[in-house]
Amino acid sequence: MSELDEFFEKVITVKWGEGKKSVDIIDQTLLPGTIKRIQIRTKEEIWEAIKKLRVRGAPAIGVSAAYGIAVVANEIKADDYQTFYKEFRADKDYLASSRPTAVNLFWALNRMDDTVKANRDKPVSEIKQILYTEAEKIRDEDVQISRNIGEIGFKLLQDLKVDGEELGILTHCNAGTLATAKYGTATAPMYIALEHGWSPKDMHVYCDETRPLLQGARLTSFELSNAGITTSVQCDNMAALLMKTGRVKIIFVGCDRVAANGDAANKIGTSALAVLAHHYGIPMYICAPSSTIDMKTATGDDIPIEMRDPEEIKSMWYKEPMAPASVDASFNPAFDVADHRLFTGIITEKGLCHAPYEKAFRDLGIQ
Ligand code: MRU
Repeated sequence: MSELDEFFEKVITVKWGEGKKSVDIIDQTLLPGTIKRIQIRTKEEIWEAIKKLRVRGAPAIGVSAAYGIAVVANEIKADDYQTFYKEFRADKDYLASSRPTAVNLFWALNRMDDTVKANRDKPVSEIKQILYTEAEKIRDEDVQISRNIGEIGFKLLQDLKVDGEELGILTHCNAGTLATAKYGTATAPMYIALEHGWSPKDMHVYCDETRPLLQGARLTSFELSNAGITTSVQCDNMAALLMKTGRVKIIFVGCDRVAANGDAANKIGTSALAVLAHHYGIPMYICAPSSTIDMKTATGDDIPIEMRDPEEIKSMWYKEPMAPASVDASFNPAFDVADHRLFTGIITEKGLCHAPYEKAFRDLGIQ
């Protein structure tokens, strides 16, 4: 096993717990200081883990919801289909209420729901086993999807690479191995570059710290530096100067939901990055599994944006509150929407898309 694969194995985001009675996740709220795995088994524990960002990142949320509903469904005490399905639906709807923006959550749960319905003629005990298999399929597919995204992104890196110089790449939030089943989406081009023989020193990845929950500082820089890639962390408001001074040659970010017109919801700050990239003429790509593309949502204005606890801004990462207790911090959106006119393209596992996006998606068979 390569060193990189050993690392991926150590921080694997979601796997089965013992006897498939639970879901085993790495608790991302404790990273980078503590690598601790936890086992979640009840629907309440799974809901809490997604809500509190113990497991996070759109594809990983989808995989953990699929694993979670398989574990929860296995505990349903019913032999007849009607009773089983009624309880399954209630559990599924409950898990779907954990976070509103990443469409992969609903996509994965609906796929599990479709699986139950397609097998309604089989005994409940068999349906339960089929759900385990479907969840594993979702996970395995995610590995292949991020690999494909990585191959496409790697070609873009090759076009920009100058011999003897490190290639400056900027990313925001964490769309890495911790957010998926293996390669990440925005980080996949870098990991695939290593698999194709690039030296980790051929690249320099600038990680936006990503206020307020610091996914870039805590997670992305942790992952990439463990892979040996030259990595730095900068405050979000330093990205403009990095771009202006020519250090950043390309930007890759992940996303939580892409509307039919290509508008892309991703971690708060992505929209500002897209404005800057457009201004400085730096190519910026949204990396999106096709499960993140929501053709039922026409434009970014229709994407629901999750609002989170003001304490994440004022006190969560500080020894003492860094704003007066009485000051309002209730505007705490977890995501924003990058206007599709501002970035260069969207990399899906099926191919690279450019505007007009709706047509490009349909041409790739994304419905
Ligand atoms: O709130 P988070 O940490 O779940 O937000 C994650 C992101 O915004 C990622 O960029 C996105 O989910 C893509 S992960 C491949």
